[in-house]
Amino acid sequence: MKIRELMREADSFVDKEVKIEGWIRNSRFSKNVGFIDLNDGSTFKNIQVVVGKEIENYDELDKQHLSASLSVEGKFVATGNNKNPYEIQANKVSVLGESSEKFPIQKQRQTFEFMRTIPHLRPRTNTYRAVFRLRSILAFGLHKFFQERDFVYVNPPIITASDAEGAGEMFNVTTIDPNDPPRREDGKVDYNKDFFSKKSYMTVSGQLEAEDYALAFGNVYTFGPTFRAEVSNTPRHAAEFWMLEPEMAFADYNVCMDTAEDMIKYAIDYILENAKDEMEFFNQWIDKGLIERLTKLRDSEFARITYTKAIELLKESGEKFEFPVEWGMDLQTEHERYLSEKIVGGPVFVTDYPKDIKAFYMKRNDDGKTVAAFDMLVPGVGELIGGSQREERYDELVKSMIDNGLKPEEYQNYLDLRRFGTVVHSGYGLGFERAMMYVTGMKNIRDVIAYPRYVNAFAR
Ligand code: 4AD
Repeated sequence: MKIRELMREADSFVDKEVKIEGWIRNSRFSKNVGFIDLNDGSTFKNIQVVVGKEIENYDELDKQHLSASLSVEGKFVATGNNKNPYEIQANKVSVLGESSEKFPIQKQRQTFEFMRTIPHLRPRTNTYRAVFRLRSILAFGLHKFFQERDFVYVNPPIITASDAEGAGEMFNVTTIDPNDPPRREDGKVDYNKDFFSKKSYMTVSGQLEAEDYALAFGNVYTFGPTFRAEVSNTPRHAAEFWMLEPEMAFADYNVCMDTAEDMIKYAIDYILENAKDEMEFFNQWIDKGLIERLTKLRDSEFARITYTKAIELLKESGEKFEFPVEWGMDLQTEHERYLSEKIVGGPVFVTDYPKDIKAFYMKRNDDGKTVAAFDMLVPGVGELIGGSQREERYDELVKSMIDNGLKPEEYQNYLDLRRFGTVVHSGYGLGFERAMMYVTGMKNIRDVIAYPRYVNAFAR
């Protein structure tokens, strides 16, 4: 049985015979008795297996290395000790798969850098087991938030022809020239070499397709991988990351910010309730005070200030920034963090950015200079969410596309939404790994995604 099932109804198993399987996470053997901490991955905490000298393969067990897999039969007993309230007194232990002294993760703590070189083995450690179970629980909590509010989950394509952000950071997918396709020796078209008959890319965001579906279902969300060929070698950027993008029809950007704030609070509640062991681990080992901070945040109101005000506050602060503060500039991580950490002391929505630094699809404000956009900035991470009200007026959108160097004829489907029953609509994107960093206190995005991809690096 799974250790989780055993622990869930522990009292009813006390003094009964049980059988579990798992991997050795730690072991201490003396002449007459051995203690093995076993984990099958179903729980965060290990269970202690006590092995007496009378077990026939005692010497074989004594020789096992970390990560060997075992099957254990024995009596489940209450120890009366608070830290380890239960253990198994083994009467039969079989070695299922041996490990060796070459197993790269030894008892002493290893650096995160080293762990990144062995992405296939790192989930066997406490930190990464906590990270990756939490990732699963957080994803489920976010789905639950939207499902409870009747949002429809839609799945935009990964391979696409449009640059949703207009930032030119797309990875190419190999394409085919229809007039001169690559051919095999037998004259047939070699589709393995090239496939599509037009230029195609990996998606940078599912937003444009989410808009199609929002204008049919009202409220929708996407949640999937996105790809950006950004040459940003920072602890917050990955070339492949997951994004959650809700899109709401008949809603302006204030409704959108309300939803984003409710979502973050709901997610915090959800993980504090459903990932207690993992959250306690982060609180103790990764980021002291994490749980208290998240709890406080859940009960607070997030600040909202305009970009223009933010620039004023940054200027007034007297702080020397690497990038000098001027109206019209894109806020850098140093500014974002200063705003949320030093000026506000918590999450903050910055709204109404200059139109020239934002994407073509954002609704222009009446002042002619800014757009109805917002970013949510949080301490420690910087930008967690980016969102906006969309330009729903056909003519204005065409104008904005041209201003941004895009060809309106390549975006006809997108423009159609503005021709057939256009409505005010808004949405945002939550960087899922950034959310993971925020709620765990982990400092590098490469440690919260299983197989990180970033510039010049590709570990398996
Ligand atoms: O602000 P961004 O670029 O917004 C969009 O893509 C919109 N289409 C979203 C929408 O309105 N539906 O990205 C949204 C979020 C950022 O706030 C950040 O958290 C995350 O995605 N993000 C990244 N995370 C990791 N690595 C990268 N290279 C990221 N780029 C953006």
